[in-house]
Amino acid sequence: MAQVLCQLPQKDDPNLLSSNIPCADAGIYQLTPDLVILQSVDFFTPVVDDPYLFGAIAAANALSDVFAMGGKPITAMNIVAFPNCLDIDILTKILSGGADKVHEAGATVVGGHSIEDEEPKYGLSITGTAHPDKLITTLGCQNGDLLVLTKPLGTGLLTTGLKAKVLNEAQIETALDGMARLNRYASEAMQRVGVSACTDITGFGLIGHALEMAEASKKHLVIHADSLPAYPHAVDMAENGLVPEGRFRNHRHYIKRVSGAEDQPEQNIDLLCDPQTSGGLLIAVAPERVDLLLAELKGAGDQAFIIGAVENGDGDDGNNNCTGTMLLI
Ligand code: CO
Repeated sequence: MAQVLCQLPQKDDPNLLSSNIPCADAGIYQLTPDLVILQSVDFFTPVVDDPYLFGAIAAANALSDVFAMGGKPITAMNIVAFPNCLDIDILTKILSGGADKVHEAGATVVGGHSIEDEEPKYGLSITGTAHPDKLITTLGCQNGDLLVLTKPLGTGLLTTGLKAKVLNEAQIETALDGMARLNRYASEAMQRVGVSACTDITGFGLIGHALEMAEASKKHLVIHADSLPAYPHAVDMAENGLVPEGRFRNHRHYIKRVSGAEDQPEQNIDLLCDPQTSGGLLIAVAPERVDLLLAELKGAGDQAFIIGAVENGDGDDGNNNCTGTMLLI
């Protein structure tokens, strides 16, 4: 998608701050010297059978980009595709799941748009605000920073197992709770501590989103592949070869920038490349602040896993020209 967008005609608007931030999680547009708006949109087909839960997960996922940037979501617009053969009560439940999450995020649903379609789809367009000096972006990883992930991996593997009826919703309850969990509380925790950089983990998996942060910051990431956290049953799915198609797409696209992959067991690579729905925040934090961050995240009711560190890349000759690479150890 990014490759396609690059080819579109561009308008040079100095207020579009995100045009200077590679791989920004949301569009950043400056309105006044001390106010930017953040805009993001995401929607997808159902990942679970329960319509209310699907709505809640889709909203938590759509709100995530604004939280990753240290912003505050203000308004949300529903995006709906729905077949006319399905009971309208299902749509009501999807929308109320979404609205409850938007309210929990401190934002307001202002409207939306629906079309008729063969397969249901739901998501939201989110507008948030931030002070330009307080933005947390993919830029800013420093040598020696530690990388903290706030949710386990494996939602792609688990929802694939669910679709194949190898797993039921009760078996993946921990992951469902995780996907519906707002990144709001983790975002507020990192803002209290002060961190170097952040992104949220969604469809490109840990591999893609971590490499985007490395690329924006011109750094090399060292990831402890054996310490990657996984939701219960995710590794079982990987070991049984029940992996989502998106895992292969992410692998094809990103693996050439990763060294050490050939020495890793297959399930570590599956987790690294697994596309996430409403995944956690990946935070780069100075080592002297990591204990405080872990304590704040824990106090907020979130998880925190140290999965690696930031280093200078091989291509970095001191001129900061590293294109963003990763080593798995
Ligand atoms: Co994002």
